[in-house]
Amino acid sequence: MKPETHKLLDIKIPPLKEGFVLPVGNSEQTFYSLKVEDVFNPELISFFAELGFIPQYALIFHHTPYSTVQPIHVDNNLEQFRCSINWVFCDHHLLRWYEPKPGATPIPTHVSPVHGGSLKDVPYVTLAEEDAVVIDETSDKGPMLVSIGNIFHKAVNLSDADRWSVILKFTLKSTPSWDYVVEKLSPYIIESRDK
Ligand SMILES: [Fe+2]
Repeated sequence: MKPETHKLLDIKIPPLKEGFVLPVGNSEQTFYSLKVEDVFNPELISFFAELGFIPQYALIFHHTPYSTVQPIHVDNNLEQFRCSINWVFCDHHLLRWYEPKPGATPIPTHVSPVHGGSLKDVPYVTLAEEDAVVIDETSDKGPMLVSIGNIFHKAVNLSDADRWSVILKFTLKSTPSWDYVVEKLSPYIIESRDK
């Protein structure tokens, strides 16, 4: 059975804190780790807190136009919890999930965010493109619940403008699992986005 990869969410609270300016990196992909309260709308932080989600930090990826440089990867930063809530700011992008081909060898590595704070040399596992089979994809811009911890994935910018992915990382008081988070978010999960 194919693993679940993402759930679209109908949460209408504007995600970004008033006055927050999305950062622009000086390479094809730049990865920022920032404080939740510096990035997100306080109303949104309260919304998730009331659901029992404890905000941890904000991640932002900046991709230049037509960037495809992000490797196929699994986020593995030693957290117990491996999903996040994502908002994407761009004209046209794709987020894809993959399974390794039989016999493929994932490559353990690490990434270092800009403004990383305590997040330095984050463990990260990559997979060569020729070793990967696409199992799902979305061009939705969120908000969405995204599985990132045990399923390979990759984002590409298909537009001639910059792309940002703003990601809320959180922990939970109880034992975290995909099913638990899906249940918590179930009042907000939608099958498709009205255009
Ligand atoms: Fe990721």
